[in-house]
Amino acid sequence: MENKAIGIFDSGVGGLTVLKEVERLLPNEDIIYFGDTARVPYGNKSKSTIIKFSTENILFLLKKKVKIIVIACNTASSLALDSLKDIFSVPLIGVVEAGAAKALKVSKNRKIAVVGTRSTINSKSYEKAILKNDKTAKIYSKACPLFVPLVEEGILEGVIAKSIIEMYLKSFKSAHTDVIILGCTHYPLLKRQIAAYLKGVYIVDSATEVALHARGVLMQHNLLRSKNNKTGKREFYVTDEPKAFMRHAGLFLKRKIPLPKVINNLQ
Ligand code: DGL
Repeated sequence: MENKAIGIFDSGVGGLTVLKEVERLLPNEDIIYFGDTARVPYGNKSKSTIIKFSTENILFLLKKKVKIIVIACNTASSLALDSLKDIFSVPLIGVVEAGAAKALKVSKNRKIAVVGTRSTINSKSYEKAILKNDKTAKIYSKACPLFVPLVEEGILEGVIAKSIIEMYLKSFKSAHTDVIILGCTHYPLLKRQIAAYLKGVYIVDSATEVALHARGVLMQHNLLRSKNNKTGKREFYVTDEPKAFMRHAGLFLKRKIPLPKVINNLQ
């Protein structure tokens, strides 16, 4: 069992920020990545649709016999994880709990900013996860729908990126939040600019936190692959546009990946 792969899924390419952190922490694990590029974006879809898509994505990864599944997509973690946990027995790891826990650990004034897609912010998932552990915390959330296309277009700095960042994050300055949670797969690529704008604010990157959490769960279930010097294998699957995925992957991973296989029929 320990030699089976870790499954990661996302609505598209953004989950590669999570893959990058998982492989940094667990270099000898095999990873199977699934990006639902035919149905992306998830960030403006309803709960029932996200549950349906996520269920199909998990069934696909289970056919590949993965040992755990990391839901890299913040929107799917926010809207579907609870329902999915009732259906599947494979360990499912979402990004929200890990990010929320880290924010509480580092915040001094308990004023925490959260950014994500519309669906993630409307679900109040981070807010609930934080308040469950500290009722005194104050959460300031903001949907930032332009961040995803900005990142996918490779506009990570310059005047356009700066003004969109300012437009979305301005209110956090007056609220004196001391932590911001990047609650979306794509946002870590804007980290430098966000840090430059929100000087001194601690940035919680859900991708890093979920990788640490995944390692903990693997250890707890005795599923961690024994140490060897081999780099784990990677397999990439998408539901559409493999070439575009490959191109974007270069931006996220800073390396080339092989052309992913296309899955036409998820059922
Ligand atoms: N992966 C999504 C998330 O983290 C962002 C892209 C989308 O809207 O599908 O919420």
